[in-house]
Amino acid sequence: MKKYLVLVGLFSLLLMQCNTDKNKTAEQKAKELLSQMTLEEKVGQMTQLTIEMISAYDSLTIREPHALDTAKLQNVIVNLGVGSILNVGGHTYDINHWKEIITNIEKYSQQSRLKIPVLYGIDAIHGANYTVGATLYPQQIGLAATFNPEMATKMAQLVANDVRGSGIPWNFSPVLDVARNPMWPRFWETFGEDPFLVSQMGVAMVNGYQNNNNGTVKPFAACLKHYVGYSNPQSGHDRTPAYIPERQLREIYLLPFAKAIAAGAKTIMINSSEINGEPVHASKFLLKTILRDELKFKGITVTDWEDIKNLTTRHKVAVSYKEAIALSINAGIDLAMVPLDLEFTQFLIENVKEGKIKQERIDEATLRILTLKYELGLFDQPNTPVENFKEPEQIESKKLSYELACQSITLLKNEGNVLPFSSNEKILVTGPNADYINALNGGWTHTWQGRDTSFNPEVITVVNALKNVMGNAQVSYLKGNTYTQHLPENVLLNAAQNANTVVLCLGEDTYTEKPGDINDLELDEAQQNLIKLYKKAGKKVVVVLLEGRPRTFAKTEPLCDAILYAYLPGNEGALAIADILSGKVNPSGKLPFTFPRYAGTHTTYDCKFTETLNNDFKPLGFNPLFSFGHGLSYTNFTYSNLAIANRNLSANDSISINVNVQNVGAKNGTETVLIYAADEYASITPSVKRLRAFKRIDLNSNEKKEVSFKIAVSDLAFVGLENKFIVEPGKFFITVANLQDSIFIK
Ligand code: BGC
Repeated sequence: MKKYLVLVGLFSLLLMQCNTDKNKTAEQKAKELLSQMTLEEKVGQMTQLTIEMISAYDSLTIREPHALDTAKLQNVIVNLGVGSILNVGGHTYDINHWKEIITNIEKYSQQSRLKIPVLYGIDAIHGANYTVGATLYPQQIGLAATFNPEMATKMAQLVANDVRGSGIPWNFSPVLDVARNPMWPRFWETFGEDPFLVSQMGVAMVNGYQNNNNGTVKPFAACLKHYVGYSNPQSGHDRTPAYIPERQLREIYLLPFAKAIAAGAKTIMINSSEINGEPVHASKFLLKTILRDELKFKGITVTDWEDIKNLTTRHKVAVSYKEAIALSINAGIDLAMVPLDLEFTQFLIENVKEGKIKQERIDEATLRILTLKYELGLFDQPNTPVENFKEPEQIESKKLSYELACQSITLLKNEGNVLPFSSNEKILVTGPNADYINALNGGWTHTWQGRDTSFNPEVITVVNALKNVMGNAQVSYLKGNTYTQHLPENVLLNAAQNANTVVLCLGEDTYTEKPGDINDLELDEAQQNLIKLYKKAGKKVVVVLLEGRPRTFAKTEPLCDAILYAYLPGNEGALAIADILSGKVNPSGKLPFTFPRYAGTHTTYDCKFTETLNNDFKPLGFNPLFSFGHGLSYTNFTYSNLAIANRNLSANDSISINVNVQNVGAKNGTETVLIYAADEYASITPSVKRLRAFKRIDLNSNEKKEVSFKIAVSDLAFVGLENKFIVEPGKFFITVANLQDSIFIK
């Protein structure tokens, strides 16, 4: 009996303990753990290494098939207590290999003194692109063209499930850089040029990743990147200096980060580059004053690849690696994507012992990292039970990927309604992207640069999709035209003998980051020659652009009968392109950026009045090839009855706007209604217009809908002389399509 009572007592104690543990917040648990940790263990938590550092090598190359190295695991995870691992050794793995990697890492972390789990992070930026069999979706630039945040949320949820299914709780996505420079090779990783659109889509993605369906799915963390001001380097080249005045920084580049932080984003990756001469990884102003004090960001800051070392090797602001570590950790870095050396932890410890970094800074960073690990449920044992590893979902995701591609692909031009094709159209398909899977997906696809085709052989290319839709007899294919070289003229003409239309699949090969740098925005001459030649031969020329940024082609654009901008539409992209060309799907994408006419001049749509002026001799004012928001349909929409409920408003009011939109064509279609506002006069030269709201609506032929918007007056704010958002009293224009009205703010 006594024994029984003791047992009951013990059991109740245990239960109480469990219950009190359960009631503790992630931060409370993290604090308790932190209090037991040595400096070495804390510093280990602040270290992130690439998987290569725990992988087996043959000579200097990572072993194929990839394998972990047990001695390295012991050293890295147990002895050094490294808190985070990232990425893949080269390419996609199947689910069994992920199971092996994640469970092994977990096994070793359980052998460390405090059994602190490892946080695994990955670049699954358009689907679980490092897991074999995962659906790949359109890249962000295409997602933005859908103007459909709800669908972006859905996509992010499915991606989170797939990535979690590989045992990984953290995704280095979304990119919230605002793409103001089309030369920049990461243009396609963004949601385009408009801060409002980027914010809306970014928040939608964060919600999708982090909203774990009321606890039915294990928690998952988003990572906003790349904080901040990365996307407008003066040279257009990746990781080169940007010069951004604080006013523009706040109004354009910071805004999406501020919104996504307010939406609860858990982590942020820092911009590898420099702004106004200061590398962001060393900037207390950006990492502390703005990020922590103003934006109240509570999560972890992670460096980008090797960017602490880069403070000495590339940026030359620190004389040694050790000094670079002190500089960046003191500026506010929590977790270092080291990722290729074991010296970081040692130097960090030395810096603390020598008083160059305060113990409190280490505690602050470690606490944030541990808190995230608790929030993500990583301390649950086992963290990812074997049965929770699951093959990527295939049915819902494929459907969604196709739908997103259809909603994104943007019809830029359709002279004489050459599209959609008539059912007896005879078509020649050619061009470097006609039969090329990689051009559909771009970078971060099975490999960093996305150039390996062996992982998704089942993905259908544009020419095959067109054959499927239009029939083999009507579609022929000419192979051999590359980006920079075309076949001899007689071969090109012979191939088109029976065709009345030539579909040219043009654009770019895949790239990301530095390898995508270019010196000229102009589309390769060889590709433009194809346009000239076929037009001269009397063919209808339909150009399909698969590319990550708008490559200029002002001289040959007038020769194109139709232009379809497909972005990087993902695995289902070719089907969507074929369905749009053949008329099965009515295009509805809108450009999320301004397509420049000339390689040497680029002005975003939200430019200043002076940039729109033509002088007496030359029309040099804002005159892009296609402006932000442009996108045609196979039907026509008319706008009428723009009505604003109250035109005299105060700072705390909302503007209620109604407008009628009618589909006046024969086909059902979808229109995105874009509401722009502009100050008439302001103390800082106002933009000619700024997007302030949007809505996608479906309209059957002849259908008319009244569309309503509510915009807070405070959302019309701009960053004033004091570098703070303000709304100045006065007149504002509200513009919707061809309609305009005005309001007065008291
Ligand atoms: C890129 C990041 C990426 C990181 C980890 C860097 O080179 O700039 O966007 O998340 O690598 O792969």
